[in-house]
Amino acid sequence: MSRDYKAEEINKKHWDEVAPIHGKSYDTSKLLTGGHDLDTTQVKELGDLNNKKILHLQCHIGTDTLALVRMGGCVTGIDISGESLKVANELCKKTGLKARFIQTPLFDLPHKLNETFDVVYTSIGVLCWVSDLEEWAKIISRYLKPGGTFYLMESHPFMHVFDDETTGLTIRYPYFSAGKPIDWPGNWPDYSDENYTVKHPTREFSWTISEIHNCLTEAGLFIEFIHEFDFLHWKGLESMQKCEDGFWRLPAPFNKIPVLFSLKASKKRHS
Ligand SMILES: C[S@@+](CC[C@H](N)C(=O)[O-])C[C@H]1O[C@@H](n2cnc3c(N)ncnc32)[C@H](O)[C@@H]1O
Repeated sequence: MSRDYKAEEINKKHWDEVAPIHGKSYDTSKLLTGGHDLDTTQVKELGDLNNKKILHLQCHIGTDTLALVRMGGCVTGIDISGESLKVANELCKKTGLKARFIQTPLFDLPHKLNETFDVVYTSIGVLCWVSDLEEWAKIISRYLKPGGTFYLMESHPFMHVFDDETTGLTIRYPYFSAGKPIDWPGNWPDYSDENYTVKHPTREFSWTISEIHNCLTEAGLFIEFIHEFDFLHWKGLESMQKCEDGFWRLPAPFNKIPVLFSLKASKKRHS
């Protein structure tokens, strides 16, 4: 595994382009009226965050960052996209909530932040931008206090083997990609605002469940659980249908696979 600087350059342009669009299309109504939008599974699995010092990796426009603040955390969000953090800071002003944001590629964070945290959090649409998973895990470990908690919720890598342009489940992409990225040309409808056509291309990576597990344990973390789910926060596959609870699910007979997972780990006290 090695850091892909070109991927960071390509993907930063993509996220800088869509951030102002997401500033308008993400539903921030709950944040603006004293609540938050973090799903009940995450809230339950994260547990008590009151007065916890939290590092949120790849925080985008800060909606989840501010949810963690609302849950009692003292939160620092980091992201490569300056345009995303502009929107995040505006959201702070609108909600009156306080968070610290740092613009940086993930792998440069150790040059910019010299602290440790009770919780490192990252979720939903993050691993596909990570070019070196071993380095990612080392950074998580670097920022956790001994005994601190790492929490991840992410789309399940098995879901990403299926063709997302046709209905049913047709295998199109490898599960085992050995760190080899896929270059996407752009020019597709944005996931949050379908009326907006994204111009900038992306370079994306996929990691297996065992790679995620093993990189974290090799970096000194103890895995407390991995949970797998049949629901997703967005329409990740063409056959998915929006259910009453707001989540997307595959209809029978395709609903026999996991489409989301969560992972909780703690940093060993002597690693
Ligand atoms: C899908 S978003 C974050 C997910 C968040 N749950 C959301 O929907 O708001 C992915 C974020 O990763 C950030 N990102 C991509 N590559 C990065 C890198 N190398 N270092 C830091 N942030 C990165 C992007 O700028 C983007 O804001």
